Amino acid sequence: MDDLLPGLIKLSPDGDETLLGQLTKQLRSLITSGRLAPAQRLPSSRDLARSLSVGRNTVSFAIEQLAAEGYLKTSPGRRAVVSTGVSLDARKPQRIETDRRPVELRVSPWARSLRNASWPPIYRGRPRPFQPGLADEREFPHDIWARCLRRAARSAPVRGDRSHNCAALQEALQQHLAEHRGVKATPGQIIIVPSAQAGIALIAKVMIGAGDLAWIESPGYGGAFAALQSAGAVVAGVPLDDFGMALGERKDIPRLIFVTPSHQYPTGRLMPAGRRLELLRFAASVRASIIEDDYDSEFHYEARPVSALQGMGLSATVLYAGTFSKSMFADIRIGYIIVPERLIEIFELAQRHMGLSAVIPIQDALAEFIRNGMYLAHVRKMTRLYKERRDKMLKALASETGDRLSIEIPAGGMQLLARCDALARDDQLSARLLEAGVVARPLSSMVFHKTKAQGLFLGFAAWNDVEIERAARILGRIVR
Ligand SMILES: Cc1ncc(COP(=O)(O)O)c(C=O)c1O
Repeated sequence: MDDLLPGLIKLSPDGDETLLGQLTKQLRSLITSGRLAPAQRLPSSRDLARSLSVGRNTVSFAIEQLAAEGYLKTSPGRRAVVSTGVSLDARKPQRIETDRRPVELRVSPWARSLRNASWPPIYRGRPRPFQPGLADEREFPHDIWARCLRRAARSAPVRGDRSHNCAALQEALQQHLAEHRGVKATPGQIIIVPSAQAGIALIAKVMIGAGDLAWIESPGYGGAFAALQSAGAVVAGVPLDDFGMALGERKDIPRLIFVTPSHQYPTGRLMPAGRRLELLRFAASVRASIIEDDYDSEFHYEARPVSALQGMGLSATVLYAGTFSKSMFADIRIGYIIVPERLIEIFELAQRHMGLSAVIPIQDALAEFIRNGMYLAHVRKMTRLYKERRDKMLKALASETGDRLSIEIPAGGMQLLARCDALARDDQLSARLLEAGVVARPLSSMVFHKTKAQGLFLGFAAWNDVEIERAARILGRIVR
């Protein structure tokens, strides 16, 4: 073998990789494939270097590296020996063949269930009209944002605070939310997470245990349904009436209630004050907590926005969730939750246990973006633009689809629901639209109770006039 080994190794001085790298890799591969057998002694480094025409140091370093990795055993003054138990056993080629067959990987029942879940909807390729939930990123002031990011990255080395929730962002957000959403909280109550979805999952994990009952609006937000379910909750879809979640004569008692009172998802309805008070009183009376998801509440087109449930007082526990993926752009990956003062410590611990922290320089940059008024200026600009697009969309749909769709005009937000109960099944319509290049989420994929309601959920915010008109024409052709 002393003579054979050099024949098994081919080094190329012109290759991209160093001679040391090539030699180490080839020796390792000879050992793992079994061509160098366990307990076999290598030639001396001097002989090997000579026969391979490389420096002796190159051979010695390769041998040291493989000894450090456990493939070789070395001792002073003796030739290196191949370790045992590190080859893939080349003497049994058939077994290796069998091992190569794809083995079904064992995953949890939860992971197995993900493929059959109706959330998240997956759209391949570039976003197309009328994909809901998207902001128009083309209108975002990327240059200003880049300057904030650069300054934040530069100040990273002098940052003393090691908290995962950047104090400057907590303060900027607290002021913004107090002024514009009527939220009542101290900055410390704001936990910064990578998305609203992460925040809802964190709340679910902290507030409920296996088998606890959670209520969710039906139709409602599939991401919340998924988060509640994966925290072990039994999730009940509570149907809506004109004012939002209909508490009515329900006899079951939830531990947690998920609502979107600013713009109900997906109907866009605003929950009026009376229903808000009823909900808060009910939750307080049964000691249930409420998750208030205020995902796109920055955009209101009619009167002044109604304040958040969170700031309405009463003794109900309201946990508030928000996100920048609608008001800025989806890839920013920053959301936040507001938790009760007494639960700050638990939430911060849970945040660390679940690894739900957001990148600190981005938090810093965002703090500056809000503090200097750039965030508000962007929200105001987009509110004007999105209102125009909502109106454009309503007009285009009316002229292209006639009375085939019945549309609830949303007073805010970025999308609308077009009911089509008398037409074909909404999932079939949605599939035909997708083939024609238009995205429309079927309402039936967003309901959590038995109902025959059919509809198409359409985003208008991210599309300009030409895109809206073109997609409305296609939609009209298909639903007429
Ligand atoms: C109702 C609702 N809540 C929360 C979210 C999640 O936002 P994020 O992207 O921050 O997870 C979405 C996203 O579409 C949403 O529609």
